[in-house]
Amino acid sequence: MKILIAEDEVVSRHLLQAYLQQWGHQVTAAVDGMEAWRLFQEEDFPLVLSDWVMPQMDGLELIRHIRACPNGAFTYIILLTARTQKQDVIEGLEAGANDFVTKPFDRGELRVRVRAGERIVELERALAAQNRALREAQAALVQTEKLASLGQLAAGMAHEINNPIAYVANNLAVLRRDVPATLHVLDKYRAGREQLRSVAPEIVTEAERLEADIDLPYIRASLPRLFERSLEGLKRVRDIVKNLRDFARLDEAEFKEADLNAALQATLEIASHEIKDKSIDLRTHFAELPPVLCHPGKINQVFLNVLLNAIQASQPGGTIEVQTRPDDTAADGGVVIEVRDSGCGIKPEHLSHIFDPFFTTKPVGQGTGLGLSVSYGIIRDHGGSIEVESEVGRGTLFRIRLPLRPSSA
Ligand SMILES: Nc1ncnc2c1ncn2[C@@H]1O[C@H](COP(=O)(O)OP(=O)(O)OP(=O)(O)O)[C@@H](O)[C@H]1O
Ligand SMILES: [Mg+2]
Repeated sequence: MKILIAEDEVVSRHLLQAYLQQWGHQVTAAVDGMEAWRLFQEEDFPLVLSDWVMPQMDGLELIRHIRACPNGAFTYIILLTARTQKQDVIEGLEAGANDFVTKPFDRGELRVRVRAGERIVELERALAAQNRALREAQAALVQTEKLASLGQLAAGMAHEINNPIAYVANNLAVLRRDVPATLHVLDKYRAGREQLRSVAPEIVTEAERLEADIDLPYIRASLPRLFERSLEGLKRVRDIVKNLRDFARLDEAEFKEADLNAALQATLEIASHEIKDKSIDLRTHFAELPPVLCHPGKINQVFLNVLLNAIQASQPGGTIEVQTRPDDTAADGGVVIEVRDSGCGIKPEHLSHIFDPFFTTKPVGQGTGLGLSVSYGIIRDHGGSIEVESEVGRGTLFRIRLPLRPSSA
């Protein structure tokens, strides 16, 4: 175990160091609290052995500094002291020490106390690992549920919308056939207008007035265009519904070969509203890709998460580039997908946290901080990788690499 010693007294320091090294530990020794604190900030030490009375920064102050340090990893602290009054013990424990060894110390006692500390450090590590696994599982669950409800919503909507689309399309087809025929009948009547005028002039006058009111020539001229535009609109609605279904891929729980360019296109459609809303200049460069064995619904989820992040980070009028290409660096073949935005960028101190579950810089209610952690898990399960390059104020690049077939499939 890595142990940090803070002891100003030279003999005691050397003795401690010698014993701990004999017992197989990796020891760093500091000559006072100040130096120990500097070393601690540079490196993680799971166990710290500190003298109480030292010049500049004493043991208690060192402990308080360590306890206030937000770096997360657990540190077990043993205070070395000649003070054994109850009040001293209370003060030391309150500052954050875990245990005491009285000076002059006994070799056997030091050994068992360090061992006890070691056991607790191990337990804390196991606990932290379990905690992390639990948070990841929870994050995945929340996202899966989000996706499942989106999928159900999509399927439900598709069903509801398909029905009216079908009869509107039928009726439109009937109208398109029958309206010109009706106009043809009307033309026949109009051809006999002069004969009619001689026997019933009032009927002809009334008909001419009605014709002028509705601008019959205009209607006649614009009917083909109206039909065409309506059919186009219907096709668009059908495509949207299909994309929604394609995107959720509810029916596919298994790995299957997918065209990732098509998957990206479906995802871009899903996000097209947000893209238009922000007047984002979307540029796509899709190279021809071999089919990739993957879980298409999950891969779509990754694409959407990364794309939405890029949109959310962009200023109105910003640029987003989406690129695909075969991965020349992969031994058994693979593909690369890049999403580059010209948005706000990620602060260097945030970069190491963006894949953590629940890490978000978005206001409460706007981001759950799950998008990237779940995406990371999905890509890892596919045997791929996800990398990020970012510069504050310039933009961010997410690069996803996927093998053609994951070893797990
Ligand atoms: N393209 C990007 N540009 C700038 N910052 C980004 C970008 N992508 C991710 N981030 C940063 O990473 C954080 C985590 O992203 P993640 O997708 O995991 O969660 P979120 O977007 O905040 O919330 P959620 O995706 O759950 O709605 C974001 O809050 C943001 O700070
Ligand atoms: Mg997100």
